[in-house]
Amino acid sequence: MNVLVTGGAGFIGSHVAEAFLAEGARVTVIDDLSNGCQAQVPRGAAFARLGVETAEAAALVKGGGFDLVAHLAGQVEVRRSFEDPRRDATVNVLGTINLLQAMAPGSRMIFMSTVAVYGDADQRPTTEEAPCRPLSPYGIGKLAAERYVEALARSRGLSATIFRCSNVFGARQNPHGDGGAVAIFTRRLIAGLRPQVFGDGLHLRDYVHVGDVARAFLLAARLRSGGLFNLGLGQGTTTLDILGWIRAAVGPAAPVPEHVAERPGDVRASVLSSERFERAAGWKPRRDLRALIPDVVRWYQAEADAPPSPGAPGRPGAP
Ligand SMILES: NC(=O)c1ccc[n+]([C@@H]2O[C@H](COP(=O)([O-])OP(=O)(O)OC[C@H]3O[C@@H](n4cnc5c(N)ncnc54)[C@H](O)[C@@H]3O)[C@@H](O)[C@H]2O)c1
Repeated sequence: MNVLVTGGAGFIGSHVAEAFLAEGARVTVIDDLSNGCQAQVPRGAAFARLGVETAEAAALVKGGGFDLVAHLAGQVEVRRSFEDPRRDATVNVLGTINLLQAMAPGSRMIFMSTVAVYGDADQRPTTEEAPCRPLSPYGIGKLAAERYVEALARSRGLSATIFRCSNVFGARQNPHGDGGAVAIFTRRLIAGLRPQVFGDGLHLRDYVHVGDVARAFLLAARLRSGGLFNLGLGQGTTTLDILGWIRAAVGPAAPVPEHVAERPGDVRASVLSSERFERAAGWKPRRDLRALIPDVVRWYQAEADAPPSPGAPGRPGAP
């Protein structure tokens, strides 16, 4: 299989690229390195530094003969989507359209969308049928991009899978991204700094390990047809619980958290049901977060101990 991974120098994209390489696929990564770094592009993948919204990216897709485009490149900061909604839409909406228009009929896109499209959902765990009421330009842009993926896939003879993904955690996470709590807490604790908890710390989030998300991409690539699927565990974990497990893994000297004012617009709880994908593809994400956290913390400890390389975080083998 010939696979293009957009955003493959970033957190989730680098794991997805690695997973396809491990399956024997030919992998090309494009990334503009605005938030990722080239050292994270897995060995064995071809790399081009390109913005997904550019004519050069479209030309690469047109001439590349790709069977699959795993589209993860994106503007990922909710806060930045408010400050510069035009840039957010240029990358997340127009960039997606640009790729779709360049793809060959019969090829497939797996588009990485987000739990943010639901906004403050009434139904929990939230299923794919729940109404979408995004609260940020980031969520609005992702929802618009989803609709373009569906419409252009239909009109151009493409196959399309859309993943609405909850909070991902694991090695190589960028602290500025969508849902980077585990990376932020871990890096601060390792540096001996007090982690900041917004409000009472009882917000519920659905944390899914990046290895399970990468596996979902492999499974989706094997399905006969596409579809719209949530990716999450269907279980909510409070900020205080996840922080407690990270502190336990860091060790007894880990600083105590500091409670700061709640962030306006933060939803109280978000939990996704991924029963649809589990049934369709046999996806079995690992649910014992407490057991997964120590390995992830060890990766960040190794990153902190690694000698700095230009523009790149340390890159020990990832859990
Ligand atoms: N991290 C999460 O919890 C989470 C949850 C749901 C959805 N997502 C989505 O998953 C995808 C990957 O997120 P991530 O957490 O790995 O973030 P990330 O920032 O680590 O990865 C995104 C990558 O896209 C690249 N990029 C940004 N703009 C680009 C452009 N115009 N052209 C080409 N490359 C560009 C960045 O340099 C970066 O390497 C994003 O689409 C994000 O919206 C992430």
